Amino acid sequence: MGYQTVVILDFGGQYKELIARRVRECNVYSVVKPGSISVEELTEINPIGIILTGGPNSVYDESSPHCDRRIFDMGIPVLGICYGTQLLAWSVGGEVAPCVTGEYGRTKMKVNPQSLIFEGLEDNQVGLMSHTDQITVLPEGFASVAETEVCPNAAVECPERKLYGIQFHPEVESTPKGKRMIRNFLYNVCGAKGDYTLRNLEKVLIEQIREKVGDSHVLLGLSGGVDSSVCAALLSKAVPGQLHCIFVDHGLMRKDEGDEVEAAFKDRDLHFVRVNAGERFLRALKGVTDPEQKRKIIGAEFVKVFEDESAKLPDVKYLAQGTIYPDVIESGDGKAATIKSHHNVGGLPDDMKFEGVVEPLRGLFKDEVRTLGRRLGLPKAFVERQPFPGPGLGIRVIGEITEEKLEILRNADAIFREEVVKRRVKAEQYFAVITDTRSVGVVGDFRTYDYTIALRAVRTSDFMTCEYAPIQHKVLGIVSSRIVNEVNGAGRVVYDITGKPPATVEWE
Ligand code: XMP
Repeated sequence: MGYQTVVILDFGGQYKELIARRVRECNVYSVVKPGSISVEELTEINPIGIILTGGPNSVYDESSPHCDRRIFDMGIPVLGICYGTQLLAWSVGGEVAPCVTGEYGRTKMKVNPQSLIFEGLEDNQVGLMSHTDQITVLPEGFASVAETEVCPNAAVECPERKLYGIQFHPEVESTPKGKRMIRNFLYNVCGAKGDYTLRNLEKVLIEQIREKVGDSHVLLGLSGGVDSSVCAALLSKAVPGQLHCIFVDHGLMRKDEGDEVEAAFKDRDLHFVRVNAGERFLRALKGVTDPEQKRKIIGAEFVKVFEDESAKLPDVKYLAQGTIYPDVIESGDGKAATIKSHHNVGGLPDDMKFEGVVEPLRGLFKDEVRTLGRRLGLPKAFVERQPFPGPGLGIRVIGEITEEKLEILRNADAIFREEVVKRRVKAEQYFAVITDTRSVGVVGDFRTYDYTIALRAVRTSDFMTCEYAPIQHKVLGIVSSRIVNEVNGAGRVVYDITGKPPATVEWE
């Protein structure tokens, strides 16, 4: 992107993404690459610094990930973290061995503020440790600059060669001054200028889009989610009048959502096509109860509608996608585009012919995408949206999907979401599900036989695992009472208290 860049080399640690984000928070661009990167590729990237991540292995195992030792002779500053520091020391002549007692959790340590890495810090620090191996013999020219009760080499350095290693994890919040340590590495050792800011990022992305697209037309499948919405806003600013957004309203959106998407884009300089395909989807889903089959039908129907609509457009040369950086990291460089489209819109047809794909957000993390969206003037509700699955309410209606059940679900879900926001409940994702169970109730003197609504609210940082949100009983009571009183057809409310694993976030 033309920015000073720091390369994060991945050795299997769970925090690689976090390290990359911390570096960017310090206004330095970062990319994650496999630990096996070649010296040639590194030379091409021309980074101002390299960070080696942690990992679960032991450097002595033959199967453990190593890197080309020549990397340490390139003159590029290197910071090893956890396994990365052991790998660094071992690669340049030091020794690593199992600790007598491993260290786990927040650990007190003494650091040497004379070190460029700890500049400006007090000597008493706390760092998150998680290791069973440690450096036992320092490589030549290295000195220890931090120690804990059991680890004499909690941080090591060889300033002449610009090689640094930290046994603990500076990237996590449990290391209170960790961000300052990363910042020190970037600015004191790598000579960072801090040229990566979201203000100039918008300008850079717009220039890149213009250069790639020229005066051709671009097609984007807009779902109303954060990524595709920000992508649309950015493209319409970069190439006004050349963007065609197809918004397939499959009738499985939340209450009023279709209209909100339309309203957010109607005054922008793009061609917006909303396809109200609800009936078509319901027809295709009639009688279907199996979750996987529902997902497949919704995906296939989406493709058909998208194809039908795009065939009506003028000559469109580029397909835009809202792929973001975590998708790229997770699926391995180069494969992300297909995975994203599959995940988000049920898979776009392979045989649609385009001259190229435009993925302007491909290098950005979610929080950066949100900030960019705010800068581009998208409504707060859009930018801060919680995740919503591609198949929509289709996988939150258990059993056969009918318009009656969808209507009950939309109303119950809207009440729950309203109360969660109003009462400031802490949850990253929250929604209602309509079960296929009806139960007997009594309203006034009459018997009722209505659907059971399940509420789901989860706390999670990555949606790969989650805990149920411990919502106060009082709040659950208010939501339950509102749903059974205000929503026709809802007769009972239950709260899902299962974590993932073993349950998943969605019910289907
Ligand atoms: P699960 O149910 O697998 O969900 O625990 C994890 C996260 O992914 C979302 N999800 C989807 N998102 N297309 C999407 O774009 C899908 O088909 C899909 N299925 C689940 C879910 O809402 C949660 O945030």
